[in-house]
Amino acid sequence: MEALSINSINAGYENRDIELSGWIDSIRDHGGVMFADLRNRSGKIQLVFDSSGKDSGCGGDAAALRAEFVVRVRGSVARRPEDSVNKKIPTGEVELKVSSFEILNGALPLPFYPGEKVGDEAALKYRFLDLRSPDMMRNLEAVDRLMRITREYFSQLGFWDVPTPMLTKSTPEGARDYLVPSRTKPGSFFALPQSPQLFKQLLMASGVERYYQITRCFRDEDLRSDRQPEFTQIDMEMSFAASSDIMETVWNLVEKIFTAFEHKLPPAVLMKYEEAMASYGSDKPDMSLDTGLLADITEIFRKSEFKVFSSSVEKGNKIAAFLCRGDFSRKELDDAVEDAKKLGAGGLVWIKKGGEELKCPVAKLFSDDEKNALKEKFPGDGVIFAGSTGDSFALMGELRKILALRRGLKKEGFFPVWVVEAPLFEKNSEGRLQAVHHPFTAPIGDIFSDEAASLKSHSYDLVINGEEIGGGSIRIHKAREQIRVFELMGISGNEYREKFGFLLDALSYGCPPHGGFAFGMERLAVKLLGLDSIKDVIAFPKTQNAFCPLTHAPDVVSKRQLRELGLKTADE
Ligand code: AMO
Repeated sequence: MEALSINSINAGYENRDIELSGWIDSIRDHGGVMFADLRNRSGKIQLVFDSSGKDSGCGGDAAALRAEFVVRVRGSVARRPEDSVNKKIPTGEVELKVSSFEILNGALPLPFYPGEKVGDEAALKYRFLDLRSPDMMRNLEAVDRLMRITREYFSQLGFWDVPTPMLTKSTPEGARDYLVPSRTKPGSFFALPQSPQLFKQLLMASGVERYYQITRCFRDEDLRSDRQPEFTQIDMEMSFAASSDIMETVWNLVEKIFTAFEHKLPPAVLMKYEEAMASYGSDKPDMSLDTGLLADITEIFRKSEFKVFSSSVEKGNKIAAFLCRGDFSRKELDDAVEDAKKLGAGGLVWIKKGGEELKCPVAKLFSDDEKNALKEKFPGDGVIFAGSTGDSFALMGELRKILALRRGLKKEGFFPVWVVEAPLFEKNSEGRLQAVHHPFTAPIGDIFSDEAASLKSHSYDLVINGEEIGGGSIRIHKAREQIRVFELMGISGNEYREKFGFLLDALSYGCPPHGGFAFGMERLAVKLLGLDSIKDVIAFPKTQNAFCPLTHAPDVVSKRQLRELGLKTADE
C-alpha cells in the first residue's frame, strides 16, 4: 500500500477522510481547541483536535500527546480560515480535523528537538532524532536519488555492478589503513579497502570490461569537513578506453545528476595540472573566485634593490603574486599580513595600485623598470599581494582564496574543471619518488627513459568550485612498466612481489588497456545540496576524531576476544 504523501495534501482534498501516521511535531493548546503538527518524511500538516478534554470526540485524550509521540490519526481535510493560512509549508492551506487517533508509542522528554542546532556530540549521540528533521530527511532522500540515477546510468551503458572485498590487503592510496586482525591466521591482518582500485583492475584483467560500484571506502586520515574515515565512492573502470572516453562517460553522468537536481552546469574547463599550479597555486582551482590569478614575478625582481625579494630569489625561491581588486583599509592589509603568517609565508608584500600609481611602504626601493613591469603584469586597480618564501605559489594561492572569500568575491553557480596530466611522481620529504595519484597511473611518455622521473601522467581530476569531486586515470596494463614504476619509487623486488604480486600476475597474463574514475559520492551530494559538511549527507558519520558517539565505536573488546585473535593491548 502506498502511503499518502503529506505534502501533496492541498485544498483539492477538502472533505476527504484520510489516515496518516507519523510524529507529533509541536503542540499548541488553545483551550478547547488543540492544534498539533503531524510530521513524517513526506511533510508536515496541522491537526485540529476539537476539544482537549478526555475522550473528547476525537477518540482519545489529546491532552496526553507530547512532542515526538508516534501516532496514527484519522480525520477529514478542511480548508483553513483565510487568516490562518501558513504560506511557509506546502500544506499551509489545509488542516486535518481529527476524528480519531491512536498513540502507537510515547517519547520521553527529548534532549533536543529534530532540527534544533546542537553540538556535534549530542547530534550524533541521538542521531535518530537529528535525522528526523526535514532538512536531514531531504538530504537522505537526495543521496538515495543520486545513487538511483547512478545505477540506472551505468546499467544502461552495460556496466556491471560487481562487489569487491571489504576484507582485503592494503592498497597504497596514501592514507593509513584500518586493520582487522585475523583469527585463523594469528598475527596477520586484513585491511579495509581505501578504494577498490586493485580489484577493479583485476576485473578488467578478468574480462568484465565495464565495471561500476557504489561502495564504502575506509581511510584513517586527519578529518576535515570534506573527509570522513568511512565514505562512499561511485567507482568505475573501463577496458579499451582512452582518457577522453572515460571523461565523457563520467561527465555525462555528472550532467544527468545536476539536471535531476535542477542545477545548471556549464561545460567543464580543461586545465593542465601545471597551469592550475601556476595560476591558482593548487591542483584544485576554484574558478568561482572572482579575483586575479597568480602570476610569477620572479624575473622582475631577480636583481632588485629590494633585498627581501632579490635575496629570496637568489636562494632559489619564486615570487608569486596576485591582484585583488578594490580598496583595502590599513586594517585589512594588516589582517592579510597576519593571514599570510598563519599560512607559513614569512613575508607578505602588498602594493596598492591605482591608475599609474603604485603605493606601499617599500615602493621607493623599486626601480622604474620594476614598477612598469608590475603595472603591465597586473592591469586594473586594486592591491597586489606578493610572497617569496616557501612554496610561494601554494601559499599565495591560499591567501588569494581567503581574501576573495572575505571580500565576497565569489560568483554564483558551479565552475567545473578537469585538471589533467598531473606529474607521475613527486619527491617526498626523504627525497624519494612517490606517486602523485597512485602507482598504477599510466605515464605519458617512455617510463624506461632517463626522463622517467619527470613524466606527466594520464590522470584527470574533476574539481568543482575548488573541491575535488573525483579523480581517475588510465592505468599501466603491462607488468614490465608497472615494475619499473615500483623500482623508480625505490620499492624493492621482494617488496613489490610480496605486496602486488597478484596485480603483476594479472598484468602478465593478458590484461587489456584500461582506465577508470571514482567520485566521492558525499562530496558530490554536498555540492548538489549546497551544504558545507559531508556529515550532513551521511546517516551515521563519525566526529572529528573518528569516534561514533551513538554506538561508542571504536570501543574496547573483551580479553577473550583478544586472546582468540592472539593480540595483547599495550597496557597489558
Ligand atoms: P581518490 O583517492 O582520489 O582516488 O578518491 C576518489 C574520490 O574519493 C573522495 N574521497 C573522500 N571523500 C570523503 N572522505 C574521504 N576521506 C575521502 N577520500 C577521498 C574524493 C576523491 O576525489 N582509486 C582511485 C580512483 C581511480 O583512480 O579510479 C581513488 O580512490 O572526492
